[in-house]
Amino acid sequence: MPTLAVIGSQWGDEGKGKITDYLAEDADMVVRYQGGANAGHTIKVGDEVFALHILPSGIIREGVTSVIGNGVVIDCEELLVEMEAIRKTGRSGSGLIISDRANVVLPYHRLLDGAEERSRGSKGVGTTGRGIGPCYSDKVARAGIRMGDLQDEAYLRERLDMIFPLKERLANALGTKLEQDRFAILRSLLEYGRIFGPYVRDTSVIVNSAIEQGAKVLFEGAQGTMLDIDHGTYPYVTSSSCTAGGICSGAGVPPSAIGDVVGVTKAYTTRVGAGPFVTELHDEMGARLQSVGGEFGTTTGRPRRCGWLDLVVVRHACRLSGVTSLAMTKVDVLNDIPVIKVCVAYDIDGEIVQDFPGSVTKLARAKPVYEEVDGWAGWGGDTAAMCRKGYSALPRNLRKFMDIITTNTGTPIGIISLGKGRDETIDLRKRRWST
Ligand code: GDP
Ligand code: IMO
Ligand code: MG
Repeated sequence: MPTLAVIGSQWGDEGKGKITDYLAEDADMVVRYQGGANAGHTIKVGDEVFALHILPSGIIREGVTSVIGNGVVIDCEELLVEMEAIRKTGRSGSGLIISDRANVVLPYHRLLDGAEERSRGSKGVGTTGRGIGPCYSDKVARAGIRMGDLQDEAYLRERLDMIFPLKERLANALGTKLEQDRFAILRSLLEYGRIFGPYVRDTSVIVNSAIEQGAKVLFEGAQGTMLDIDHGTYPYVTSSSCTAGGICSGAGVPPSAIGDVVGVTKAYTTRVGAGPFVTELHDEMGARLQSVGGEFGTTTGRPRRCGWLDLVVVRHACRLSGVTSLAMTKVDVLNDIPVIKVCVAYDIDGEIVQDFPGSVTKLARAKPVYEEVDGWAGWGGDTAAMCRKGYSALPRNLRKFMDIITTNTGTPIGIISLGKGRDETIDLRKRRWST
């Protein structure tokens, strides 16, 4: 059963796009299973840079089947724009398939996302404004529309007749007005049904049968563990299950289909939007990480908040997803820092805490307990040479930094990423795919 899962172990933007693309080299299928166009996965291939929001990262590699699973919420307009952009690069994008069970992000979801955020005032979540929360809310409230419905005019009419008046009332209550009436929405949904019809399938059947036939299937997570609806910093989270558990429901595969799990971990921590962040730095070091790391959101362009690596967070992620190895990214961003700090526990009201607390008010009182490691400044940063020579040629202090991570998470580092490109990667894994 050669499958691999890629999940984010922090608050997103860990470099999942780069790692998924790297691991997809010999994959047959790449499957997105949660989230929507709130994701922003950046991939650099030579001089080309792709920023994918809704398409699986496999779309860049010809011959790979890219699957948008039932757990994803689909913004058809965004999907169309991305497919066009991919075609313009000379790639066919023909390997795409879309679940008939995936819910559709409708125009009023985006509008209500903004209105709900405004109504929260200073306590806003800082969402991406892509309609994610309202769409998943409708899915759970059984008031959604799914990709498989888009060619059935009578059923769409019936659904919109029932759902739309409620949305109008909600919009009014939030002091806003829906931009499109139900007939305009119906027309555009039917048009999307025509465009995407050929791609819409029962993806659970297709993915499971690929796995049974021994195909190499890679599950690509979006967001990160700390944005998970259950296990993240609730309510400052997204609305889907970002841990490996989300793969089963979001791709329609059994737990036994999940093989090795790669936890993508940035060598420091970032977060976009509001919510607790124990190791956040408000000083020059935070500003340095932001500028050297280019920490600006792929989806919204917002500056990302920055801080030291938090291993309480990564440990939490490893336990929740059964992470079998870590892919440590953006190590090069730390290159010239004389002393690097790593948070190994929290001090909350004088008590040393190892497990990530569920309460945001407790987190607000948490102080990081740091271990320090001397940096590898003066190393020269010749990443190409390092990537050729591998682990043993890495600076001693970088290896110490890696030891602290492994000791505190109980998880080995399988991949070290030292730059955006595919070749700026050191692969220490003993096997590429679980068997
Ligand atoms: P994702 O959402 O987890 O896919 O991450 P994003 O693409 O939003 O953000 C990660 C950013 O870091 C992207 O601009 C990547 O090109 C870049 N990146 C990934 N790995 C590395 C690395 O090892 N070093 C550097 N300097 N940049 C990296
Ligand atoms: P990738 O896949 C970083 C954050 C938003 C906000 C919260 C809720 O690129 O790692 P939402 O629009 O989902 O309702 O916003 O979640 N967020 C992300 N932060 N990377 C992402 O995706 C994110 N997707 C959502 O900033 O705090
Ligand atoms: Mg991102």
